[in-house]
Amino acid sequence: MSKRFYVTTAIDYVNGEPHLGHGYEKVIADVIARARRSLGEDVFFLTGSDEHGQKVQQAAIAKGKTPQAFCDELALVWKPFTEKLNLTINDFVRTTEPRHTTAVQAIFQRLWDTGHCYKATYEGFYSAKEETFLTDKDRLPDGTFDPTYGEVLPLVEENYYFRLKEQQEWLIGHITANPEFIYPPQRRNEVLGFLKNNALADLCVTRPSARLNWGIPLPFDPAYVAYVWFDALLNYITVPAAHGDAAVVSAIHGAPSAEALELWPADVQVIGKDIVKFHAVYWPIMLKALGLPLPKQLVVHGWWQKDGQRMSKSTGNVVDPLAVINEWGLDAFRYYVVWELDIGADGNWTDSGFQARYHAELANGLGNLVNRSLSMLRRYRDGRAPARADDLAGAATEAARSAIALIGENRLQAALQAIWALIDRANQYVEQTAPFKLAKDPAQASRLDEVLYNLVETCRVLAVLLWPFLPGTAARIFAQLGLTTLPDRFAAAAWGGLTQGHVIGAPEPLFPRRDAPAK
Ligand code: MSP
Repeated sequence: MSKRFYVTTAIDYVNGEPHLGHGYEKVIADVIARARRSLGEDVFFLTGSDEHGQKVQQAAIAKGKTPQAFCDELALVWKPFTEKLNLTINDFVRTTEPRHTTAVQAIFQRLWDTGHCYKATYEGFYSAKEETFLTDKDRLPDGTFDPTYGEVLPLVEENYYFRLKEQQEWLIGHITANPEFIYPPQRRNEVLGFLKNNALADLCVTRPSARLNWGIPLPFDPAYVAYVWFDALLNYITVPAAHGDAAVVSAIHGAPSAEALELWPADVQVIGKDIVKFHAVYWPIMLKALGLPLPKQLVVHGWWQKDGQRMSKSTGNVVDPLAVINEWGLDAFRYYVVWELDIGADGNWTDSGFQARYHAELANGLGNLVNRSLSMLRRYRDGRAPARADDLAGAATEAARSAIALIGENRLQAALQAIWALIDRANQYVEQTAPFKLAKDPAQASRLDEVLYNLVETCRVLAVLLWPFLPGTAARIFAQLGLTTLPDRFAAAAWGGLTQGHVIGAPEPLFPRRDAPAK
């Protein structure tokens, strides 16, 4: 069996409902996963929920529930969220599942047995809000701690530590030698800058159960539970272990199963900019300690704001992706988030910007092109495709070449722009060739044939290219073209796929124009 292309997202804290940021991250990972499948690769796409730790415990207590009951209820929101986004995931992990917790325990045992962990007394300060240990070095010039830490209290505590210090030079070497490891380069430079200018301290990887019991108990000392980040990061390998991935299984425990999938190392791990340190510093060192290879690439996206402000429940400006999807359709949501934000940059959601793009690019651009191309073919040629003609072949081939290359470089926004260049070109071609005028002149019949072929064939190619981004729309275009397959292979973007005499179906508006909702 050959290794699958393995894509992951961060796993979300289930202390609240999904918001725009979570939706965004999952959509870009799905675009990458679908595009790889369109290239013919076998893909495994994983997402899930991060259910342990203080944040979740506190949220459960606030609702008067046990953490497990609270997480079980939220699983009924988070798992269907992946379906609402039409994600092509192969698995959804919950960190409270036994397949994860037992593997985390086995890993802890292994790290303890091999001397990668030790026990020591910590004396300093603790932020319960961020579950972080702080020292005097973390104080601001005025002596206080950053307000993001919430209440910071002095603390003396025994805990288990994971050795990071001695791996600092190795990690700098790895990041330097593998420029593609952290994408985009700006984030890579930040990590390198951090590692070169700060001495790593060993990482405290436990919390005493007496203080926080909502976590995975250590197998060799049940008075402690695993630090939530240590537990959470491991999901990326506990799931492969559960699927029998031989390399991971032997690094953790036991023998691989017969129908093992080969997944690790991950090819792409999509994360937000706030959790780079966990993924680019702690995670590689954890993997090295287990004798496992590092992920090939961390793809780090930026953060969304709403109307220029950080989204927060207290200010009530959280964009609810489900509300947007219910009102405007999933593909409009997927389109806007990928187009608006290049991977790496921060972005700003405005309802007016969303609606403007919906009308200009989806309704007037793509929707109008498909609708008028198919309508004219039905009106003038009974819906039958004429013989192949190549006026737009060059533009379509170039759009496909450039979109596929850009997706491979994680430049999803630029890839969409390349596809939209073809839409604009085809709409301009309608204006230039004026098929409605050609139709009035019998002497222009063969020219009209050519124009109509170019238009419907361009719609077909567009569906293939759009599939990773707007899968529902791409499938609808294929159905309206009377094609019975899905547009899920890039090979089908080659010009000339529509054969002469093929009969198309009925056009239906893809993105109906709509008035702005009443505020
Ligand atoms: N549970 C941890 C991740 C553990 S991964 C082993 C966590 N969860 S989270 O729910 O807070 O965030 C999940 C992902 O959503 C992160 O990658 C984070 O960057 C992303 N986003 C959360 N808010 C965001 C925005 N406002 N904008 C874009 N993405 C954001 O961190």
